[in-house]
Amino acid sequence: MTIFAANLNNRMNETDRIVALREELHRHNYNYYVLNQPTISDQEFDALLRELQDLESSHPELFDPNSPTQRVGSDLTSDFETVLHSRPMLSLANTYNKEEVREFYERVRGGLEDEAFEICCELKFDGLSISLHYEQGRLVRAVTRGDGVQGDDVTANVRTIRSIPLQLQTGGDWPQEFEIRGEILMPWSSFEALNREREAREEPLFANPRNAASGTLKQKQTSVVAQRKLDAYLYYLLGDQLPAEGHFENLQAARSWGFKVSEAMRKVQTLEEIFDFIDYWDTERRNLPVATDGIVLKVNSLRQQRALGMTAKSPRWAIAYKFQAEQQSTVLREVSYQVGRTGVVTPVANMDPVQLSGTVVRRATLNNADFIAQMDLHLGDHVLVEKGGEIIPKIVGVDESFLASGERGPRIEFIHNCPECGAELVRYEGEAAWYCPNDSHCPPQIKGRIEHFVSRRAMNIDTLGPETIDELYERRLIRDIADLYDLTVDQLNGTHGERERSARKTIQAIADSRSVPFERVLFALGIRFVGETTAKILARAFRDVDALARASLDDLLQINGIGQATAESVIRWFQDPDNAFLLERLRSHGLQLALSEEVLAAQSDRLAGYSIVISGVFAHHSRDEYKALIEQHGGKNVGSISKKTSFVLAGENMGPAKLEKAQKLGVRILSEDEFLSMIQ
Ligand code: IVH
Repeated sequence: MTIFAANLNNRMNETDRIVALREELHRHNYNYYVLNQPTISDQEFDALLRELQDLESSHPELFDPNSPTQRVGSDLTSDFETVLHSRPMLSLANTYNKEEVREFYERVRGGLEDEAFEICCELKFDGLSISLHYEQGRLVRAVTRGDGVQGDDVTANVRTIRSIPLQLQTGGDWPQEFEIRGEILMPWSSFEALNREREAREEPLFANPRNAASGTLKQKQTSVVAQRKLDAYLYYLLGDQLPAEGHFENLQAARSWGFKVSEAMRKVQTLEEIFDFIDYWDTERRNLPVATDGIVLKVNSLRQQRALGMTAKSPRWAIAYKFQAEQQSTVLREVSYQVGRTGVVTPVANMDPVQLSGTVVRRATLNNADFIAQMDLHLGDHVLVEKGGEIIPKIVGVDESFLASGERGPRIEFIHNCPECGAELVRYEGEAAWYCPNDSHCPPQIKGRIEHFVSRRAMNIDTLGPETIDELYERRLIRDIADLYDLTVDQLNGTHGERERSARKTIQAIADSRSVPFERVLFALGIRFVGETTAKILARAFRDVDALARASLDDLLQINGIGQATAESVIRWFQDPDNAFLLERLRSHGLQLALSEEVLAAQSDRLAGYSIVISGVFAHHSRDEYKALIEQHGGKNVGSISKKTSFVLAGENMGPAKLEKAQKLGVRILSEDEFLSMIQ
């Protein structure tokens, strides 16, 4: 064989291998994310994926946007193009009670002139609707609903959703071209995890999974979408050559092609069967991994659907039945007040017990003082309680049907003093909440701060749970975070057996926390507005706690990423003599109050005075690592290119708009390697 022939042969083998790996990985994705039945381990999957990534990187000519390797997304930013829907995306008429469902059923019967018909009952998923187009079994376009006539092309983001097939099952009888519509959802578990992370970073929380899913799909970086773990259920197949005459049958076919189609679907004939379906799912939906807000009823036959037609807004052959957000009326007996770690005082309604969505509810949040005033709430009022997003019950109003009859109790006045320590409450400008300012002596604030201090992302002494902290506090063994370092195994009540083992573990974890790096210690202190990211910024800028304590408001405001509220809060914290004393005790216990030698050694001012824009995908470090490197060397990260930009650090696939702008303004473009040698 000549060398040329050998190379060709090798190339052929690699091409075949790429094709085979893509197919195999698509299949494993389907088994895992659609069927929930993986047939290989995560490690085996990762090994195959890595092999494919390696082969693809040596064969850029074989790039395929639908390759399983593309599911991880990229951190390039892109704008969405607006595209017309091939068929308008209509919404459904809503009904709220069984009577309206009966009317729908009768209307259908009349419209079909007493011909027999079947109804397909489905869940109404509470996410955002999406239209997916497939050609030759491959995903070619994904468009949001938009205004129903046109929507945003979000194909790149949708490719990262693992349960959406990029390539349909081989051998399936799918039409060459078709559209399928469905709902993109964020499962409860991902939603809760995401909000926990956001809370730790002091970012605003998402109100419900629908908002979270919609916020995620609008992200301009596919890599962010890929991390957020979205899911999708498909419920409507459209096209000129569909496999069956029935909607239900078409969806079963779609399931066999690789789509995630809900199993909670039934074809029925009578109104009673429809009501059974509604009643069953009204309670059972609480056990589903995703949010649902009702039931959808669809005439099954496509011929009959055409015969019934549409109104301007919605089809006559389908309707949504919305579940009631369960609401009950009960009597407000008392308002109590909870004080959180940051001193926020939250009013809580104590009510006569009432059965709501399967649990007994006695307490509900009243949010803040404005909320109470707006509702003009009085003691003894009958109030309406709802379990909205299924989590914390809330009071949604006064049950006015009781107002006319008899006297009302006293109006609820928000308290002026802290219920725990008596300090006079304060309100900060622009905030709805009242605060207890006595942060150093108010018990729930102290305990809350200790809980925050020991949490995993802070000092990671997580064997110390809230109950133990409470107990140690009550026994007067801890009054602040520094006291933790004086605790002994005996004090943690380690006399025998299990308890002693866990006491020793805790004492060890406390001792180990002495080596937690400075930026995490700074975060652990619980200074208001100093989340993980801010703590890192401050640690890098000031390098040790003494320099930070000496910083003026101006010094702080000079730093990129530090705003007025944070700066003021830092100043306030360090001005408090109790905190100065606390820091000295932490220092004497050996905590890291300065950046380590290693981090310091890696710092320089080689990039001082430079404003740098990062763009593209990198091979040696992640984008965040490059951002950190720029800061470490005294440079400034900026988002967009202007005349003031010193240079662009460009990876692969730098956005064309950015490239053009840089060229127009004569801004230098540095490759990854050039940049790394610059800071060497
Ligand atoms: S069918 C013409 N089926 O509810 C019929 N919609 O207001 C098209 N939805 O925009 C929709 N679950 O986002 C259909 N099983 C289901 C659904 C469903 C949720 C959403 C969809 C639509 C809205 C209707």
